[in-house]
Amino acid sequence: MKIIKLDSSVYNKISAGEVVERPASVVKELVENAIDAGATKIEIVVANAGLDEIKVLDNGCGIEKEDLKTAFLPHATSKIRKAEDLSNIHTLGFRGEALPSIASVSMVSIKSKTADAEVGNYLKLRGGEVEEEGIAGMNVGTEITVSNLFFNTPARLKFLKTPAGEFSDVKSAVLKLIFANPTISISLFNQNEKVYSSDGKGLAGAIKSIFSEDMWQNLLPLNYEKNGVVVTGFASRSTYFKMNRTYQISIVNGRVCDNQSISSAISTVYQQYLMKRNYPVTVLSIELDPSKIDVNVHPTKAEVRFSDGNQVFSAV
Ligand SMILES: Nc1ncnc2c1ncn2[C@@H]1O[C@H](COP(=O)(O)OP(=O)(O)OP(=O)(O)O)[C@@H](O)[C@H]1O
Ligand SMILES: [Mg+2]
Repeated sequence: MKIIKLDSSVYNKISAGEVVERPASVVKELVENAIDAGATKIEIVVANAGLDEIKVLDNGCGIEKEDLKTAFLPHATSKIRKAEDLSNIHTLGFRGEALPSIASVSMVSIKSKTADAEVGNYLKLRGGEVEEEGIAGMNVGTEITVSNLFFNTPARLKFLKTPAGEFSDVKSAVLKLIFANPTISISLFNQNEKVYSSDGKGLAGAIKSIFSEDMWQNLLPLNYEKNGVVVTGFASRSTYFKMNRTYQISIVNGRVCDNQSISSAISTVYQQYLMKRNYPVTVLSIELDPSKIDVNVHPTKAEVRFSDGNQVFSAV
């Protein structure tokens, strides 16, 4: 068969399959964009677990009028410029894939205003195609609304959980974003009902706003440095545990992620105190030289690799 180069509307849907698995992944991508935009306040509102609508409002730098459409083109990013930048990433995003992927499988309405602009601008897209544009009165920042997720990919809809299951994933994604960004005020609303709200005044406050009093009372603060790896955060007393790993949150250079060296270090420390299938509560923030980690491992950036995993294991 003849080989052709795929049209952007087709490959956006393909990368959407990797980046946008469910409402929680949309929430994560949109909030990470707001964080990269320097927002100090981010509000997330979902309707029907995000299956009907996800709205993220931030007070970040905004997007200029000329860039608003570009943001929805594949591989369009303001965050890196050249291949070498990949070895020293300081932002959560860098692939230029999230917005085109999300837009290709939903209806998006975005409005944004920069500090220099007199008015904001809006765009409405359907399945990635711009349908409407204009000016919008608003404060500096960005508001993006994603509705009818997967309306044009029925196969994906079939693999979603019940709304309760999807909502639990949304909550878990937001909880991690709050812990990873304790100096940003982040709130999650389920329609009008406030689910989480952090005040942006540090990790202890963020944990207290979300965990039960009993859990908070059983956490001990940590602050340790070894070989340039700084580990801060909280870990539960040796007598306190949960029945699953839901409450083990690892943050590497501000990014929530999974990594084998970190989880095995945590298990190693606690195995002398806890029985099998009892898990500690840990919120660990690990900081190290960005050139010593690779975040470009997976499309969702949920995993990181360390050039020296032993160093991180030993510090944790
Ligand atoms: N909330 C926002 N505020 C300001 N600029 C934004 C916002 N959301 C997106 N942008 C701009 O749109 C661009 C495209 O966003 P998109 O999420 O698709 O890519 P990215 O964040 O650069 O990389 P990734 O695909 O890894 O997330 C960003 O690089 C940024 O310049
Ligand atoms: Mg992004």
